Amino acid sequence: MPRIPDSESQPLSEREVSRAWDGNADSWAEQVRKGWDVYREFYNNPAFLEFIGESIGDLAGLSILDAGCGEGYNTRILARRGAKMTGADLAPRMIELARAEEHREPLGIRYEVNSFSDLSVFADVSFDAAVSFMALMDGPDFPGAMRAIYRVLRPGGMLVFSIIHPCFITKGLTWIRDEAGHETALTVAHYFDDTPWVERWKFSQVPTPESVEPFAVPRFDFTLSFYINTLVESGFVLRRIGEPRPSEAACVQHPFLRRWREHAPLFFYVSAQKPR
Ligand SMILES: C[S@@+](CC[C@H](N)C(=O)[O-])C[C@H]1O[C@@H](n2cnc3c(N)ncnc32)[C@H](O)[C@@H]1O
Repeated sequence: MPRIPDSESQPLSEREVSRAWDGNADSWAEQVRKGWDVYREFYNNPAFLEFIGESIGDLAGLSILDAGCGEGYNTRILARRGAKMTGADLAPRMIELARAEEHREPLGIRYEVNSFSDLSVFADVSFDAAVSFMALMDGPDFPGAMRAIYRVLRPGGMLVFSIIHPCFITKGLTWIRDEAGHETALTVAHYFDDTPWVERWKFSQVPTPESVEPFAVPRFDFTLSFYINTLVESGFVLRRIGEPRPSEAACVQHPFLRRWREHAPLFFYVSAQKPR
């Protein structure tokens, strides 16, 4: 997920976030479904699916909300593991693509266009668990998301989410390399700068990069303390955090992943529980 140094700073509303992701949706769905998101396939999904299992246990028969589900790639993975899945996303085109896939290969997934900071289409206490894959740093209202998810969970229900690691993936991220070009360190800078911005990037392993436009991804940089304190102040009990490393086998297969094994985690995982 390389950073293309072309970003704009601007206030960003949910309407603008929705428009940006609508614009990304077709190309995103096509590339993700082709397996071109190598970070997902070889690093994030193996680690986060294991973290979900450790946090929730057997998913079979549980009613689970996927908050910020996109076109549903990971929602379908959990449905195939036996969960009764519901996906919610802000971008109507993402939900259209998810529903088309559900129509093509039914897995019993319900999809709704709704902000994870609102979730008003769902009744109180309607889910056994909630998950969110790499979405909660993409919305402006994280406190609203915590309140909304808390409301729709049953007592004892788990919330398990992954985000970009807020401590290392800052606006000032650069890699320091030795003479051979190997990454030896990364820099952290502007950690406290919470100005929303639009990041433009492509999946790094696209076979023909010139054939795809970069995604435009509105980003909201929150500090680690903001995430954790907001979660706890919303009533959740923090159970576990995760800072995954790509496996040695994944690094052998995809050497560009090794920097995330040797120096710092790209992702941050949280597992929390609504009290019984
Ligand atoms: C990086 S994508 C991840 C999508 C999906 N979870 C996956 O793993 O493929 C982030 C998603 O968050 C959605 N999103 C951003 N803000 C949102 C909000 N306030 N409520 C619901 N979805 C939101 C975007 O529309 C986009 O589909």
